[in-house]
Amino acid sequence: METSKVKKINAKTVIETEERYGAHNYHPIPVVLERGEGVFVWDITGKRYFDFLASYSAVNQGHCHPKIIAALIEQAQKLTLTSRAFYNDSLGEYEKYITGYFGYDKVLPMNTGAEGVETALKLVRKWAYEKKGVAENQAKIIVCEGNFHGRTISIISASTDPESSGNYGPYTPGFIVIPYNNTRALAEALKDETVAAFLVEPIQGEAGVVVPDEGYLFNCFDLCKKANVLFVADEIQTGIARTGKRLACDHEDVRPDVLILGKALSGGVYPVSAVLTDDEIMLCMRPGQHGSTYGGNPLACRVAIAAMNVVIEERLAENAERLGHILRKNLREIKSDMISLVRGKGLFNALVIRPKNGKTAWDLCIALKENGLLAKPTHNDIIRFAPPLVITEDQLQECITIIQKTFAEF
Ligand SMILES: Cc1ncc(COP(=O)(O)O)c(C=O)c1O
Repeated sequence: METSKVKKINAKTVIETEERYGAHNYHPIPVVLERGEGVFVWDITGKRYFDFLASYSAVNQGHCHPKIIAALIEQAQKLTLTSRAFYNDSLGEYEKYITGYFGYDKVLPMNTGAEGVETALKLVRKWAYEKKGVAENQAKIIVCEGNFHGRTISIISASTDPESSGNYGPYTPGFIVIPYNNTRALAEALKDETVAAFLVEPIQGEAGVVVPDEGYLFNCFDLCKKANVLFVADEIQTGIARTGKRLACDHEDVRPDVLILGKALSGGVYPVSAVLTDDEIMLCMRPGQHGSTYGGNPLACRVAIAAMNVVIEERLAENAERLGHILRKNLREIKSDMISLVRGKGLFNALVIRPKNGKTAWDLCIALKENGLLAKPTHNDIIRFAPPLVITEDQLQECITIIQKTFAEF
């Protein structure tokens, strides 16, 4: 019989197989997912969950958005990869679209977020030598304590998290680390004339959705301008409507000199990242000086155009802004001594958890999972709440009820 051929897998087997054959560089919540649609995912037993992580904000448009999947399928049947040895009929259209949307002269397409950040680091160093006149090999980049910009050797060289950087030395030199949300420290660091750029997350995501004071971005931008230093915004997690605006920098009317995007640029369908800037900076890189086999491939371009169109058509920024207020208000009303702080912007939020009777943020996430909502702790004591931005108010209310019930059970 046909059905007898179908091998039933169970969660335990899947988890054990990963454990046995995969590197142990992640510690997932024990749930095995097989399907997603919009704000929902289903595990292999058919149980449905609200996804409150949205793949670290890559799935802002919701799981398997039909318009993005249609673009993927259509292009996959025509042409997927040419490399940049030849032109393809999608890249120019995508470049025009994305530069128009974000208001920059040029884009450099890459694949993962970390590659986008690496590209920006190279670009600002090149600009420092070729335009600013910094002496050879002296360029510095200012970064913030608690940053997360990815996992490459150079990027972790700028990290202050021992988990991310421990025992991976020797590290890439050239970074100055200052406290986050501290303009005085930035002003001091900018006195060094070899500084090329200030690289910053407008809200620190992996650090636990750390929202800086109002005016911080604007003031940092202003200080950078006065010092002839490039302001580089890593909006890989905060960008593309997550915080209630097109970009988190838009909240303070800051237009970064260099903008890095990733994750939701493709709606979670395909790895697409981008660095956007103006000619004065971008044209410092000439043919052969940087690139990527997959960067700017036609499949990525079509997927990204479709993904960005969804953000506009479905007014996801407006939805994130409106529902974010409702979510935070309701979270603040939960009476639990385990919640020490609720913070966030738009649908980018976090609860800071105070452990109680040996119960931690991890235990809360396991309980939320049992109640039908998936979230993951960061740094042991913080739970990020960042659902797909297509979530409706009714769905959000259901999620709030789940969260209230879970805290009541503790
Ligand atoms: C702000 C920020 N920058 C860079 C990255 C790295 O992106 P990727 O994992 O696609 O390399 C991340 C990933 O979480 C991020 O949040």
